[in-house]
Amino acid sequence: MYTKAAKIIKSSRRCVTFSGAGISVESGIPPFRGENGLWNKYDPQTFDIQYFYSHTRQSWEVIREIFYDLFGKVRPNAAHYALVELEANNMLSSVITQNVDNLHYDAGSKVVHEFHGSFKNLVCLKCRAKYKISQIDLNVLPPVCKKCGGILKPDVIFFGEAIPEPACTHSFNEAKKADCFILIGTTGTVAPANTIPSIAKSNEAKIIEINPYKSEYTSSVTDIFLEEKASIAMEKLMEEIDKL
Ligand code: APR
Repeated sequence: MYTKAAKIIKSSRRCVTFSGAGISVESGIPPFRGENGLWNKYDPQTFDIQYFYSHTRQSWEVIREIFYDLFGKVRPNAAHYALVELEANNMLSSVITQNVDNLHYDAGSKVVHEFHGSFKNLVCLKCRAKYKISQIDLNVLPPVCKKCGGILKPDVIFFGEAIPEPACTHSFNEAKKADCFILIGTTGTVAPANTIPSIAKSNEAKIIEINPYKSEYTSSVTDIFLEEKASIAMEKLMEEIDKL
């Protein structure tokens, strides 16, 4: 299976990765669903945009705990670094990620489409001014805009918000052009992100899936299922690619 997947990647014209929370689990970030899932501990409505507007402080307290206390300390793992190596060797065109943890950029990936935004940035709800997290003191919640006093929100997509541009357009274009699509660590349960692998499939892309458990894609979209944790599977794949 790994040899076959390695041959597809090496011979592909345009290979694209589509990553979900599972690629960051070995960096110490729990997934949203399944064992130790964040949604088992926190109510997803905290990340609904209407709740954020009506319960801003309560929402921010959970956001700070998950994104800034936890995410702030984690580092990329071998799976992130393997993707950087594939990109450097011209075997990967881009990463489309549903994750907001910035770990693909931290590892050194150059072309990353952050379909749900990034916790590293904040945006003012009033004047749309943007800030880096390093500019903001989260000891005072909710943080406010230095320009207009408006409430700041992490620049990540809450349930009920539109997917950001240009990430949205770039991601769907990649799905249409790719002839090899590597799915890593995603249940495939959240739209519209979850339509991207099916678009790639409908355009004849070969779908390689890495996940220790089956997902919504495994029986319908996936061509090669590597039933393994991301870092182990990616290291095995890189070894096989090096042999070709
Ligand atoms: N390596 C690879 N995959 C793993 C690992 C691992 N070590 N551990 C768990 N997984 C898999 C799980 O089997 C599961 O399929 O990662 C997946 C995590 O699924 P979700 O938590 O649903 O994450 P994701 O698919 O990215 O969620 C999509 O939902 O809540 C929203 O906006 C949020 O971007 C997120 C979206």
